[in-house]
Amino acid sequence: MAIKRRPGLVLAVFTLMGLAFPVSFGAIVQGYNRPPARKDLDIPADDPGSASPQQVHISVVGEDKMRVTWITDSPSPATVVYGTSTGVYESSATGDTSSYTYLMYTSGDIHDVVIGPLKPNTTYYYRCGSSDSDPEFSFKTPPAAFPITFAIVGDLGQTEWTSSTLEHIDKANHDMFLLPGDLSYADLIQNKWDSFGRLVQPLASKRPWMVTQGNHEIEKIPIVHSHAFTAYNARWHMPYEESGSDSNLYYSFNVAGVHVIMLGSYTDFDPSSAQYQWLQADLGKVDRGRTPWIVVLIHAPWYNSNKAHQGESESVDMKEAMEDLLYQARVDVVYAGHVHAYERFTRVYKAQANNCGPVHITIGDGGNREGLASEYLNPQPKISVFREASFGHGQLVVVNATHARWTWHRNEDSETIASDSIWLTNLSSDPACKK
Ligand SMILES: *[C@@H]1O[C@H](CO)[C@@H](O)[C@H](O)[C@H]1NC(C)=O
Ligand SMILES: *[C@@H]1O[C@H](CO)[C@@H](O)[C@H](O)[C@H]1NC(C)=O
Ligand SMILES: *[C@@H]1O[C@H](CO)[C@@H](O)[C@H](O)[C@H]1NC(C)=O
Ligand SMILES: [Fe+2]
Repeated sequence: MAIKRRPGLVLAVFTLMGLAFPVSFGAIVQGYNRPPARKDLDIPADDPGSASPQQVHISVVGEDKMRVTWITDSPSPATVVYGTSTGVYESSATGDTSSYTYLMYTSGDIHDVVIGPLKPNTTYYYRCGSSDSDPEFSFKTPPAAFPITFAIVGDLGQTEWTSSTLEHIDKANHDMFLLPGDLSYADLIQNKWDSFGRLVQPLASKRPWMVTQGNHEIEKIPIVHSHAFTAYNARWHMPYEESGSDSNLYYSFNVAGVHVIMLGSYTDFDPSSAQYQWLQADLGKVDRGRTPWIVVLIHAPWYNSNKAHQGESESVDMKEAMEDLLYQARVDVVYAGHVHAYERFTRVYKAQANNCGPVHITIGDGGNREGLASEYLNPQPKISVFREASFGHGQLVVVNATHARWTWHRNEDSETIASDSIWLTNLSSDPACKK
């Protein structure tokens, strides 16, 4: 939205507010040493001011529909035409258009259209808007049954490191992308949400991107912008209505045989909260016969032996409030971001190794401009199996109802190197964990 931004002014407000209210900016002010980070890329718009679609991304809605989201700088219909052959669009759907304001910034038109029913494991070709000259995109729907491959990484940002992480994910043959929070690192500069949208479009327009939010999505400024998550909620509408949630900040969905739960580390989580009540009800509805696997994503890790982000309420208090729910439900894996490094724990419950607890994995190593969190607490806790401060991403291949393979791929310059890999077996196949 080059024509609408006022970067100088916004930057000045940001700086002032940052000095006055450092707490609002979470990770930005943490005092640990990071190796030299890379700056944000300059990602210009192709055709600023036009009605041509930009920042196209997709997300699943139920088991056979897809939400297509895109932005235009000038008015354009919220219509998607689509079909299973290139250039032949036998179906069409219409949705909604919205926009938001943030200080002096006004977003472009954000179009949100749900298409389907769609066949599983099938390539669809689609066009956003009504103009014949608009580009064609394509995506592949997730499979209806195992195997399914997830690419997973948080704390992406928009640097050259982010680009190499995204290239590696693109080369991996994944069905869906899961993001445990901290997307753009716009940090109040709203046109950076636009450049982030442009950076991720090549991937996010062809595989569903299912995200939850981190501290960098809060973007609340006392007095002048008192609502949290304005840009995040406007731009990354996730299927919360379909999972009985009243908030875009927490939701769940089934894909192949996996029940994925996205939680919000920066909204209420105590037992009287709407999120807690929703989670309890959601876990109660899981049918392990249909979805033998339960995978949970949060932003702030509940287990962490990095020096970064120790003792924060969003980690300590959320774990205290919700760990029992996940343990009793026999959740298989919990992924978190926030700490810019990789760490894998054994199966844990209440800080002890426990064969019936979830494996906890921190995968906040997407490549944002803050750099790596490279200092660890020593000695390494027994429950921490593998830890390393490098950028990279993870892949979870759920092979069948009992076996899944998790691999962490480290970025070594432009290469992706498989550096940590384990087999996970489903918990209820372990008689000792039967309830
Ligand atoms: C999905 O389609 C690919 C290629 O068409 C096929 O090889 C694969 O077995 C399918 N997967 C599932 C789970 O049906
Ligand atoms: C785990 O595997 C067993 C054996 O295949 C299966 O019966 C069960 O439904 C699977 N999932 C869970 C959580 O029980
Ligand atoms: C599930 O996958 C694992 C790993 O490939 C394999 O050893 C096992 O036999 C499979 N189970 C079934 C029921 O096919
Ligand atoms: Fe974070």
